[in-house]
Amino acid sequence: MVISNYMRDEHRSCDESFAKAEQAANNGDFKETFKHFEDFMVETLNHFAKEEDILFPAFEEAAGSTEGPTMVMRHEHNQVRQLLEQMREAIESEDKDRFFSVADTLMILLQQHNMKEEQMLYAMCDRILGPQADGLVEKMKER
Ligand SMILES: [Fe+2]
Ligand SMILES: [Fe+2]
Repeated sequence: MVISNYMRDEHRSCDESFAKAEQAANNGDFKETFKHFEDFMVETLNHFAKEEDILFPAFEEAAGSTEGPTMVMRHEHNQVRQLLEQMREAIESEDKDRFFSVADTLMILLQQHNMKEEQMLYAMCDRILGPQADGLVEKMKER
């Protein structure tokens, strides 16, 4: 399987859960919001872990550097992790304004992050990790 296709599908799946959480928050249903937010959070953190533990190390080894694009991506993951915590707090305190304020910040950051990965990093992974692609995707699927 092509690495970029597998990773892009995971981005899309996270987007869907996020949209459901926003929809529920819009309706003022915080129980439902939390359910979809939890799905989004679990999916997102698991996706990050696959990148940080499996895909990025393979890329770094092939590229011979840990200071390129993967360093920036790891930093952005940490920013997203902080925003996830803030979003959880907003849901727990049923603060709709705060929820949407954090949600907007998170979505902008994550969309830009995902775009950089899809247009640049994953494309580079496809090129330099081509022969290892099947093995890497299998490993990530096991997570
Ligand atoms: Fe990422
Ligand atoms: Fe990603």
